[in-house]
Amino acid sequence: MSQKIRVAVLYGGRSGEHEISLRSAASVIRNLDRSRFEIVPIAIDKQGQWHLVDREFAEKEAQGSTLSIPAAALPVVLPPDPARGKGKAVFVSLKDGSVAATAEAVFPVLHGPLCEDGTIQGILELAEVAYIGCGVLASSVGMDKDMAKRVARDAGIPIVPFVLVRAGRWQKASQEIRAEVKRELGFPCFVKPVNMGSSVGVHKVKTEADFDAAMNDAFQYDTKVLVEKAIAAREIEVSALENREHGEPARVSVAAEIIPSHEFYSYEAKYLDDDGAALLIPARLLPEQLATVQQIAVKVFEALECEGMSRVDFFLDKVTGQFYFNEVNTIPGFTSISMYPKMWEASGLPYAKLLSELVDLALERHRRKLALKREK
Ligand SMILES: Nc1ncnc2c1ncn2[C@@H]1O[C@H](COP(=O)(O)OP(=O)(O)O)[C@@H](O)[C@H]1O
Ligand SMILES: [Mg+2]
Repeated sequence: MSQKIRVAVLYGGRSGEHEISLRSAASVIRNLDRSRFEIVPIAIDKQGQWHLVDREFAEKEAQGSTLSIPAAALPVVLPPDPARGKGKAVFVSLKDGSVAATAEAVFPVLHGPLCEDGTIQGILELAEVAYIGCGVLASSVGMDKDMAKRVARDAGIPIVPFVLVRAGRWQKASQEIRAEVKRELGFPCFVKPVNMGSSVGVHKVKTEADFDAAMNDAFQYDTKVLVEKAIAAREIEVSALENREHGEPARVSVAAEIIPSHEFYSYEAKYLDDDGAALLIPARLLPEQLATVQQIAVKVFEALECEGMSRVDFFLDKVTGQFYFNEVNTIPGFTSISMYPKMWEASGLPYAKLLSELVDLALERHRRKLALKREK
């Protein structure tokens, strides 16, 4: 029997989405095809320390809905030492410098800043290992709502009108900015930190009088804040997956619709309220609407240089019927009830097969990259 491919599953992380990641990773570990893969569980605690977790322990825990990081887990690092790894990930014990584990591919099941934004991907690039999902560029552009919208706009993809505000300017010219927002966008508008997720720091601002408080709150999370025209919209999502044929357009799933029971799809609606939103898979769309949104999702995947996977989120204007690209999630939720795998399931690609595809795509990309010349 040929040897199994070792897949290091990275989970936890330093973002506010640490707990979601533990749930996503439990599902990933539970569903990875054991006939092909062996799991190497690597947990990143909230301080940023990486740990090798006992495999049996993680496998057992993954039968439930979430994972923990045992105090006894061995602290490890992944040094940027390609010569040592020879294409594999080599996790080194911080205790005695010995090799604690190796893996042929790394699956970052991490969400949010310092996880999904190209930083972890940068470490994996330096270590020269195969990893699942988007590279450094798409990860960081995808995390930055301002950059993602600018790139999409340049590719002719419809986006909601916005004004970008930097912290320095807000401190000096808040009155001028308020006037600009009133003139360009009007109220209600949405205020959001550029590099966050989970609706943290997102506000629907109904009147001019509420604008400053929303901005000040958003600036607690980031130095760039996006102010967007509020759209009376349905929220539609599509899962995109890199094509097996390199260079061909991404594969896209059926669409899903999120119907928040709150004023908008806020943090509370997402995580605190069990009935915070209804999730419809497939979304109730006309065939031509589905075709349109899938087409735009493919375009977004390409424009943002996505690789592997991405969930692409849209607004569908209830009045005009126009689709607007809202954001990409380059490492979407992977819990058993998460939209990305659910949409694939509804499109005929079961969870375990989806994971196998993602690993295969990562290994394939790694091979292609290693074959490139580095100098003349
Ligand atoms: N321009 C907008 N018009 C209407 N609703 C919006 C707008 N921007 C954001 N929202 C609402 O806020 C939620 C969170 O915003 P989003 O940009 O998706 O940030 P996050 O990355 O935190 O999910 C959306 O799901 C939607 O409910
Ligand atoms: Mg969102």
